[in-house]
Amino acid sequence: MVSVNQHRSPRKRTYLMCPPEHFDVAYAINPWMDTDTPVDTEIAVKQWERLRETLVELGHTVHVLAPEPGLPDMVFAANGAFVVDGTAYGARFKHQQRAAEAAAHHAFYEANGWSFVAPAETNEGEGDFAYLPEAHGGIVLAGYGFRTEPTAHAEAQEVLGRPVVSLRLVDPRFYHLDTALAALDDRTVTYYPNAFSVGAQRVLAQLFPDAVLADEVDALAFGLNLVSDGRHVVLNSEATAMADRVAAAGYTPVPVELSELKKGGGSVKCCVAELRP
Ligand code: ARG
Repeated sequence: MVSVNQHRSPRKRTYLMCPPEHFDVAYAINPWMDTDTPVDTEIAVKQWERLRETLVELGHTVHVLAPEPGLPDMVFAANGAFVVDGTAYGARFKHQQRAAEAAAHHAFYEANGWSFVAPAETNEGEGDFAYLPEAHGGIVLAGYGFRTEPTAHAEAQEVLGRPVVSLRLVDPRFYHLDTALAALDDRTVTYYPNAFSVGAQRVLAQLFPDAVLADEVDALAFGLNLVSDGRHVVLNSEATAMADRVAAAGYTPVPVELSELKKGGGSVKCCVAELRP
């Protein structure tokens, strides 16, 4: 049980985001996407800008990647790589429609002095990888079942030199790890158990006995798709029950509206890649 006055301390972060100037639902590669639903790009850009400002107001650095025409999902910058200890393990997208995004991220890391490792295995970056620097000496949690291949988990472990724990995702609505699990701080996770296989649930319970457990309502509101600095938890404004849950655990919820991007099957976390030096 967490006492209400337990101090949750924020840590300055560096993020990478990409504006949704070319955002559209031009194809459907997850159950949230419906090509018949019209998308208002102007609203998407405004909501995205508000998210960027929120992170800056919290004291974080946000780098911006130039959006490219013909890549409507490029706003979901979390999928472009997974960065730990200054090394960026590049993405290799499952679907052809997003394949070209990987090169834009690669160019960003090369140009900005990060050590970049090109992947041989299919993986969608931070969409399917999470890092807990103070849990068990620094571990990586990795999802598979829909996008990222388990062979990429082994590759990430070789590249990053951190233990990678493979977790099987079983609900197609929660097709990326970051739709079902998030790091609230350097050692604490929150997750929706039923998005995972029974074995993965047992592993999570063993590794994180103090996790903040979420439910289906939270997950469907994209409440797990959050970005936390250790204290401020930026999350989708529709996820009101999730906001109460993180507040009860001693964090400060910071709701932002991202209704347009939800049409692409993503929310806060999908738009934000964390660059860990
Ligand atoms: N439309 C995108 C896709 O299906 C959404 C990606 C969401 N990103 C994420 N990190 N969960 O690939």
